[in-house]
Amino acid sequence: MWIEKTGIENFRNFEYQTVDFSNGVNIIYGDNAQGKTNLMEVLWLLTGFHSFRSRKSSELISFGKERALIKSHFHDSYGENVTEIKIEQNSKKIIFNGEEFNSRSYYIGKFQAVLFSPVTMNLINGSPQERRRFIDVAMSALYPKYSCNIVRYNSILKQRNSVLKNYEIAPKDNDILLDYYDEVLAETGALLTVMKRDYISKIKSHAYEAYASISDKKDEFKLHYCSQILSGDEDEETVKKTFVEKLYKSRESDIEKNSTNTGPHRDDIVFYINSKSAKIFASQGQRRSAALAVKFAEAVISEEETKEIPVIMLDDVMSELDQQRQHDLFKNLKNCQTFITCCDKDQVRRFTEGKYFEIKNGEIFY
Ligand SMILES: Nc1ncnc2c1ncn2[C@@H]1O[C@H](COP(=O)(O)OP(=O)(O)O)[C@@H](O)[C@H]1O
Ligand SMILES: [Mg+2]
Repeated sequence: MWIEKTGIENFRNFEYQTVDFSNGVNIIYGDNAQGKTNLMEVLWLLTGFHSFRSRKSSELISFGKERALIKSHFHDSYGENVTEIKIEQNSKKIIFNGEEFNSRSYYIGKFQAVLFSPVTMNLINGSPQERRRFIDVAMSALYPKYSCNIVRYNSILKQRNSVLKNYEIAPKDNDILLDYYDEVLAETGALLTVMKRDYISKIKSHAYEAYASISDKKDEFKLHYCSQILSGDEDEETVKKTFVEKLYKSRESDIEKNSTNTGPHRDDIVFYINSKSAKIFASQGQRRSAALAVKFAEAVISEEETKEIPVIMLDDVMSELDQQRQHDLFKNLKNCQTFITCCDKDQVRRFTEGKYFEIKNGEIFY
Protein backbone atom coordinates (compact mmCIF):
# COMPACT_ATOMS: atom_id res chain seq x y z
CA MET A 1 0.00 0.00 0.00
CA TRP A 2 1.40 3.44 -0.84
CA ILE A 3 0.38 7.07 -1.11
CA GLU A 4 1.22 8.55 -4.48
CA LYS A 5 0.18 12.16 -3.99
CA THR A 6 -1.73 14.48 -1.75
CA GLY A 7 -3.33 17.88 -2.26
CA ILE A 8 -3.86 19.99 0.85
CA GLU A 9 -5.94 23.14 1.26
CA ASN A 10 -6.21 25.23 4.42
CA PHE A 11 -5.07 22.47 6.73
CA ARG A 12 -3.21 23.77 9.84
CA ASN A 13 -0.28 25.87 8.56
CA PHE A 14 -0.61 24.63 4.94
CA GLU A 15 -2.41 27.06 2.66
CA TYR A 16 -2.26 25.19 -0.61
CA GLN A 17 0.14 22.30 -1.34
CA THR A 18 0.42 19.36 -3.68
CA VAL A 19 3.03 16.71 -2.93
CA ASP A 20 4.21 13.63 -4.88
CA PHE A 21 5.66 10.90 -2.71
CA SER A 22 8.08 8.05 -3.33
CA ASN A 23 6.78 4.52 -2.81
CA GLY A 24 9.91 3.88 -0.72
CA VAL A 25 11.28 6.11 2.01
CA ASN A 26 10.12 9.74 2.32
CA ILE A 27 12.21 11.93 4.59
CA ILE A 28 10.49 15.08 5.81
CA TYR A 29 12.86 17.48 7.51
CA GLY A 30 12.89 21.02 8.81
CA ASP A 31 13.21 23.11 11.96
CA ASN A 32 10.68 22.96 14.78
CA ALA A 33 7.12 24.20 14.27
CA GLN A 34 7.35 24.27 10.45
CA GLY A 35 4.62 21.68 9.69
CA LYS A 36 6.29 18.23 9.73
CA THR A 37 3.81 16.69 12.18
CA ASN A 38 1.00 18.54 10.39
CA LEU A 39 1.92 16.63 7.21
CA MET A 40 1.93 13.33 9.13
CA GLU A 41 -1.50 14.24 10.46
CA VAL A 42 -2.73 14.76 6.87
CA LEU A 43 -1.50 11.27 5.94
CA TRP A 44 -2.86 9.63 9.10
CA LEU A 45 -6.36 11.05 8.46
CA LEU A 46 -6.47 8.75 5.41
CA THR A 47 -7.05 5.89 7.88
CA GLY A 48 -10.43 7.44 8.73
CA PHE A 49 -9.53 7.73 12.42
CA HIS A 50 -9.38 11.00 14.34
CA SER A 51 -6.16 12.94 14.25
CA PHE A 52 -3.59 11.56 16.67
CA ARG A 53 -3.41 14.92 18.42
CA SER A 54 -6.78 16.69 18.10
CA ARG A 55 -10.27 15.35 18.30
CA LYS A 56 -11.86 18.64 17.24
CA SER A 57 -12.22 19.20 13.49
CA SER A 58 -12.05 22.95 13.98
CA GLU A 59 -8.45 22.73 15.21
CA LEU A 60 -7.33 21.17 11.92
CA ILE A 61 -8.58 24.05 9.77
CA SER A 62 -6.10 26.90 9.14
CA PHE A 63 -6.72 29.84 11.46
CA GLY A 64 -9.34 32.17 9.99
CA LYS A 65 -10.52 29.72 7.28
CA GLU A 66 -13.90 28.04 6.96
CA ARG A 67 -12.92 24.54 5.84
CA ALA A 68 -9.97 22.34 4.96
CA LEU A 69 -9.68 19.87 2.12
CA ILE A 70 -7.35 16.91 1.63
CA LYS A 71 -7.32 14.80 -1.51
CA SER A 72 -5.00 11.79 -1.63
CA HIS A 73 -4.31 9.14 -4.24
CA PHE A 74 -3.16 5.85 -2.78
CA HIS A 75 -2.57 2.38 -4.19
CA ASP A 76 -3.46 -1.01 -2.79
CA SER A 77 -3.17 -4.40 -4.47
CA TYR A 78 -6.40 -3.74 -6.42
CA GLY A 79 -5.26 -0.42 -7.94
CA GLU A 80 -5.56 3.29 -7.36
CA ASN A 81 -7.94 4.88 -4.85
CA VAL A 82 -8.85 8.48 -4.21
CA THR A 83 -9.91 9.68 -0.79
CA GLU A 84 -11.21 13.22 -0.28
CA ILE A 85 -11.65 14.52 3.23
CA LYS A 86 -13.65 17.71 3.72
CA ILE A 87 -13.17 19.14 7.17
CA GLU A 88 -15.69 21.68 8.43
CA GLN A 89 -15.85 23.39 11.83
CA ASN A 90 -17.84 20.58 13.45
CA SER A 91 -17.75 17.70 11.01
CA LYS A 92 -15.70 15.65 8.59
CA LYS A 93 -16.91 14.20 5.32
CA ILE A 94 -15.12 11.34 3.55
CA ILE A 95 -15.53 10.65 -0.16
CA PHE A 96 -13.85 7.42 -1.27
CA ASN A 97 -13.58 6.72 -5.01
CA GLY A 98 -16.47 9.10 -5.60
CA GLU A 99 -18.75 7.59 -2.95
CA GLU A 100 -19.64 9.57 0.13
CA PHE A 101 -19.39 7.75 3.46
CA ASN A 102 -21.86 8.99 6.03
CA SER A 103 -20.32 6.99 8.83
CA ARG A 104 -16.59 6.97 9.44
CA SER A 105 -16.72 3.35 10.60
CA TYR A 106 -17.69 2.15 7.08
CA TYR A 107 -14.57 3.78 5.64
CA ILE A 108 -12.10 2.66 8.32
CA GLY A 109 -9.92 -0.17 7.03
CA LYS A 110 -9.62 1.03 3.44
CA PHE A 111 -6.20 2.50 4.12
CA GLN A 112 -3.76 0.80 6.51
CA ALA A 113 -1.01 2.64 8.37
CA VAL A 114 1.07 2.18 11.48
CA LEU A 115 2.25 5.29 13.28
CA PHE A 116 5.22 5.60 15.61
CA SER A 117 5.45 8.91 17.46
CA PRO A 118 6.81 10.08 20.81
CA VAL A 119 3.35 9.25 22.19
CA THR A 120 3.78 5.61 21.09
CA MET A 121 6.72 5.39 23.43
CA ASN A 122 4.16 5.90 26.20
CA LEU A 123 2.49 2.61 25.43
CA ILE A 124 4.41 1.22 28.38
CA ASN A 125 4.47 4.28 30.68
CA GLY A 126 1.05 5.71 29.94
CA SER A 127 -2.40 5.13 31.39
CA PRO A 128 -4.56 2.00 30.87
CA GLN A 129 -6.85 4.24 28.80
CA GLU A 130 -4.01 4.98 26.36
CA ARG A 131 -3.29 1.26 26.01
CA ARG A 132 -6.96 0.50 25.39
CA ARG A 133 -7.04 3.19 22.75
CA PHE A 134 -4.01 1.66 21.05
CA ILE A 135 -5.76 -1.71 20.82
CA ASP A 136 -9.07 -0.17 19.75
CA VAL A 137 -7.49 1.81 16.90
CA ALA A 138 -5.33 -1.11 15.71
CA MET A 139 -8.22 -3.58 15.81
CA SER A 140 -10.85 -1.25 14.36
CA ALA A 141 -8.66 -0.77 11.27
CA LEU A 142 -8.62 -4.54 10.71
CA TYR A 143 -12.00 -5.79 11.90
CA PRO A 144 -15.18 -3.82 11.00
CA LYS A 145 -17.07 -6.07 13.44
CA TYR A 146 -14.87 -4.83 16.28
CA SER A 147 -15.22 -1.21 15.19
CA CYS A 148 -19.07 -1.40 15.11
CA ASN A 149 -19.30 -3.23 18.41
CA ILE A 150 -17.07 -0.82 20.25
CA VAL A 151 -19.44 2.01 19.25
CA ARG A 152 -22.39 -0.13 20.40
CA TYR A 153 -20.70 -1.06 23.67
CA ASN A 154 -19.91 2.56 24.54
CA SER A 155 -23.45 3.62 23.79
CA ILE A 156 -24.96 0.87 26.02
CA LEU A 157 -22.45 1.72 28.74
CA LYS A 158 -23.51 5.37 28.65
CA GLN A 159 -27.17 4.38 28.96
CA ARG A 160 -26.46 1.97 31.83
CA ASN A 161 -24.49 4.68 33.65
CA SER A 162 -27.33 7.11 33.21
CA VAL A 163 -29.77 4.61 34.82
CA LEU A 164 -27.30 4.15 37.70
CA LYS A 165 -27.18 7.92 38.27
CA ASN A 166 -30.96 8.23 38.38
CA TYR A 167 -31.54 4.92 40.17
CA GLU A 168 -33.15 6.33 43.32
CA ILE A 169 -35.91 8.07 41.36
CA ALA A 170 -37.58 4.73 40.55
CA PRO A 171 -35.61 1.76 41.95
CA LYS A 172 -38.05 -0.96 40.84
CA ASP A 173 -38.31 0.25 37.23
CA ASN A 174 -34.60 0.88 37.11
CA ASP A 175 -33.83 -2.66 38.29
CA ILE A 176 -35.76 -3.95 35.29
CA LEU A 177 -33.85 -1.57 33.02
CA LEU A 178 -30.53 -2.63 34.55
CA ASP A 179 -31.36 -6.32 33.98
CA TYR A 180 -31.81 -5.47 30.32
CA TYR A 181 -28.64 -3.36 30.05
CA ASP A 182 -26.58 -6.01 31.86
CA GLU A 183 -27.65 -8.56 29.28
CA VAL A 184 -26.88 -6.44 26.18
CA LEU A 185 -23.68 -4.98 27.65
CA ALA A 186 -22.44 -8.49 28.46
CA GLU A 187 -23.26 -9.73 24.98
CA THR A 188 -21.27 -6.98 23.22
CA GLY A 189 -18.59 -6.94 25.92
CA ALA A 190 -17.97 -10.69 25.61
CA LEU A 191 -17.54 -10.39 21.86
CA LEU A 192 -15.04 -7.52 22.25
CA THR A 193 -13.13 -9.35 24.99
CA VAL A 194 -12.76 -12.57 23.02
CA MET A 195 -11.66 -10.64 19.91
CA LYS A 196 -9.13 -8.67 21.98
CA ARG A 197 -7.75 -11.83 23.58
CA ASP A 198 -7.17 -13.33 20.14
CA TYR A 199 -5.59 -10.15 18.76
CA ILE A 200 -3.31 -9.73 21.77
CA SER A 201 -2.19 -13.32 21.48
CA LYS A 202 -1.07 -12.52 17.90
CA ILE A 203 0.67 -9.37 19.15
CA LYS A 204 2.50 -11.53 21.68
CA SER A 205 4.00 -13.96 19.20
CA HIS A 206 5.22 -11.23 16.81
CA ALA A 207 6.31 -8.75 19.47
CA TYR A 208 8.40 -11.32 21.35
CA GLU A 209 10.23 -12.12 18.15
CA ALA A 210 10.75 -8.43 17.30
CA TYR A 211 11.94 -7.66 20.82
CA ALA A 212 14.47 -10.47 20.68
CA SER A 213 15.89 -9.04 17.46
CA ILE A 214 16.04 -5.51 18.90
CA SER A 215 17.55 -6.47 22.24
CA ASP A 216 20.00 -9.09 20.97
CA LYS A 217 18.06 -11.73 22.94
CA LYS A 218 19.52 -10.44 26.23
CA ASP A 219 16.14 -9.62 27.78
CA GLU A 220 12.94 -11.58 27.95
CA PHE A 221 9.85 -9.56 27.00
CA LYS A 222 6.34 -10.65 27.94
CA LEU A 223 2.93 -9.04 27.95
CA HIS A 224 -0.30 -9.99 29.60
CA TYR A 225 -3.90 -9.04 28.81
CA CYS A 226 -5.73 -8.26 32.05
CA SER A 227 -9.49 -8.64 31.86
CA GLN A 228 -11.96 -8.84 34.74
CA ILE A 229 -14.21 -11.23 32.87
CA LEU A 230 -11.81 -13.64 31.22
CA SER A 231 -9.68 -16.31 32.81
CA GLY A 232 -8.27 -18.23 29.84
CA ASP A 233 -9.48 -19.49 26.51
CA GLU A 234 -13.16 -19.89 27.33
CA ASP A 235 -15.74 -19.24 24.59
CA GLU A 236 -17.82 -16.10 24.07
CA GLU A 237 -20.94 -17.56 25.71
CA THR A 238 -19.03 -18.39 28.91
CA VAL A 239 -17.44 -14.93 28.99
CA LYS A 240 -20.90 -13.40 28.60
CA LYS A 241 -22.22 -15.46 31.50
CA THR A 242 -19.33 -14.40 33.75
CA PHE A 243 -19.84 -10.78 32.75
CA VAL A 244 -23.60 -10.83 33.53
CA GLU A 245 -22.90 -12.38 36.94
CA LYS A 246 -20.23 -9.80 37.77
CA LEU A 247 -22.47 -6.94 36.69
CA TYR A 248 -25.26 -8.27 38.87
CA LYS A 249 -22.94 -8.69 41.87
CA SER A 250 -21.50 -5.21 41.55
CA ARG A 251 -24.83 -3.48 40.90
CA GLU A 252 -25.07 -2.05 44.40
CA SER A 253 -21.60 -0.58 44.34
CA ASP A 254 -22.13 0.64 40.76
CA ILE A 255 -25.24 2.52 41.95
CA GLU A 256 -23.19 4.06 44.74
CA LYS A 257 -20.44 5.12 42.34
CA ASN A 258 -22.81 6.10 39.51
CA SER A 259 -20.72 4.12 37.06
CA THR A 260 -20.11 0.64 35.67
CA ASN A 261 -16.90 -0.75 37.11
CA THR A 262 -16.65 -4.11 35.33
CA GLY A 263 -16.05 -4.81 31.67
CA PRO A 264 -13.65 -4.40 28.77
CA HIS A 265 -13.64 -0.62 29.29
CA ARG A 266 -11.51 -1.41 32.37
CA ASP A 267 -9.06 -3.80 30.63
CA ASP A 268 -5.33 -3.30 30.60
CA ILE A 269 -2.16 -4.81 29.23
CA VAL A 270 0.84 -5.32 31.49
CA PHE A 271 4.35 -5.51 30.04
CA TYR A 272 7.14 -7.47 31.68
CA ILE A 273 10.86 -7.44 31.01
CA ASN A 274 12.79 -10.27 32.63
CA SER A 275 9.64 -11.10 34.65
CA LYS A 276 9.43 -7.64 36.23
CA SER A 277 6.84 -4.95 35.45
CA ALA A 278 8.31 -2.83 32.63
CA LYS A 279 6.41 0.27 33.78
CA ILE A 280 8.06 0.14 37.20
CA PHE A 281 11.45 -1.45 36.66
CA ALA A 282 12.56 -1.23 33.02
CA SER A 283 15.10 1.28 31.74
CA GLN A 284 14.07 3.93 29.22
CA GLY A 285 15.81 1.98 26.46
CA GLN A 286 14.07 -1.30 27.36
CA ARG A 287 10.70 0.46 27.35
CA ARG A 288 11.38 1.98 23.94
CA SER A 289 12.33 -1.41 22.56
CA ALA A 290 9.15 -2.90 24.00
CA ALA A 291 6.96 -0.18 22.46
CA LEU A 292 8.71 -0.60 19.11
CA ALA A 293 8.29 -4.37 19.26
CA VAL A 294 4.55 -4.00 19.82
CA LYS A 295 4.32 -1.59 16.88
CA PHE A 296 6.23 -3.98 14.62
CA ALA A 297 3.79 -6.67 15.67
CA GLU A 298 0.89 -4.36 14.75
CA ALA A 299 2.39 -3.88 11.26
CA VAL A 300 2.94 -7.62 10.74
CA ILE A 301 -0.61 -8.50 11.83
CA SER A 302 -2.02 -5.76 9.60
CA GLU A 303 -0.25 -7.33 6.63
CA GLU A 304 -1.32 -10.87 7.59
CA GLU A 305 -4.97 -9.90 7.97
CA THR A 306 -5.40 -7.54 5.01
CA LYS A 307 -2.74 -8.90 2.61
CA GLU A 308 -1.64 -5.28 2.20
CA ILE A 309 1.64 -3.88 3.51
CA PRO A 310 0.74 -0.94 5.77
CA VAL A 311 2.28 2.50 5.32
CA ILE A 312 4.69 3.27 8.15
CA MET A 313 4.86 6.75 9.67
CA LEU A 314 7.66 7.71 12.02
CA ASP A 315 7.06 11.13 13.50
CA ASP A 316 9.95 12.52 15.47
CA VAL A 317 11.11 9.17 16.81
CA MET A 318 14.66 9.18 15.47
CA SER A 319 15.93 11.36 18.28
CA GLU A 320 14.29 9.02 20.80
CA LEU A 321 16.30 6.03 19.65
CA ASP A 322 19.95 5.19 19.99
CA GLN A 323 22.04 4.20 16.92
CA GLN A 324 21.50 0.48 17.37
CA ARG A 325 17.73 0.84 17.64
CA GLN A 326 17.62 3.18 14.63
CA HIS A 327 19.52 0.56 12.71
CA ASP A 328 17.07 -2.18 13.80
CA LEU A 329 14.14 0.00 12.92
CA PHE A 330 15.24 0.34 9.30
CA LYS A 331 16.13 -3.32 9.10
CA ASN A 332 12.51 -4.11 10.00
CA LEU A 333 10.97 -1.61 7.55
CA LYS A 334 12.42 -2.76 4.26
CA ASN A 335 9.40 -3.27 2.01
CA CYS A 336 7.06 -0.58 3.30
CA GLN A 337 6.38 2.92 2.10
CA THR A 338 7.76 4.94 4.98
CA PHE A 339 7.45 8.57 6.08
CA ILE A 340 10.04 9.86 8.51
CA THR A 341 10.15 13.30 10.06
CA CYS A 342 13.32 14.69 11.60
CA CYS A 343 15.12 17.97 12.15
CA ASP A 344 18.39 16.84 10.63
CA LYS A 345 18.24 14.88 7.38
CA ASP A 346 21.77 13.51 7.90
CA GLN A 347 20.48 11.58 10.91
CA VAL A 348 18.39 9.43 8.55
CA ARG A 349 20.81 9.43 5.62
CA ARG A 350 23.19 7.20 7.59
CA PHE A 351 20.63 4.39 7.56
CA THR A 352 18.63 4.75 4.39
CA GLU A 353 18.27 6.67 1.14
CA GLY A 354 14.98 8.23 0.16
CA LYS A 355 13.13 11.21 -1.27
CA TYR A 356 13.70 14.40 0.68
CA PHE A 357 11.10 17.04 1.53
CA GLU A 358 12.03 20.22 3.33
CA ILE A 359 9.25 21.97 5.22
CA LYS A 360 9.57 25.69 5.92
CA ASN A 361 6.71 27.58 7.48
CA GLY A 362 3.98 25.47 5.89
CA GLU A 363 5.65 25.16 2.48
CA ILE A 364 6.97 21.85 1.21
CA PHE A 365 10.07 21.88 -1.06
CA TYR A 366 11.28 18.82 -2.94
N1 LIG B 1 -5.16 25.34 12.83
C1 LIG B 1 -3.97 25.87 12.53
N2 LIG B 1 -3.86 26.89 11.63
C2 LIG B 1 -2.66 27.44 11.33
N3 LIG B 1 -1.49 27.03 11.87
C3 LIG B 1 -1.53 26.03 12.76
C4 LIG B 1 -2.76 25.40 13.13
N4 LIG B 1 -2.50 24.43 14.04
C5 LIG B 1 -1.16 24.45 14.23
N5 LIG B 1 -0.57 25.42 13.47
C6 LIG B 1 0.85 25.77 13.38
O1 LIG B 1 1.59 24.63 12.93
C7 LIG B 1 2.90 24.73 13.46
C8 LIG B 1 3.31 23.42 14.11
O2 LIG B 1 3.47 22.50 13.15
P1 LIG B 1 4.04 21.05 13.47
O3 LIG B 1 3.74 20.25 12.27
O4 LIG B 1 3.56 20.57 14.77
O5 LIG B 1 5.59 21.39 13.59
P2 LIG B 1 6.84 20.41 13.48
O6 LIG B 1 7.50 20.79 12.18
O7 LIG B 1 7.69 20.80 14.64
O8 LIG B 1 6.36 19.02 13.53
C9 LIG B 1 2.91 25.79 14.51
O9 LIG B 1 3.59 26.92 13.98
C10 LIG B 1 1.44 26.08 14.73
O10 LIG B 1 1.20 27.40 15.07
MG1 LIG C 1 6.57 17.56 15.07
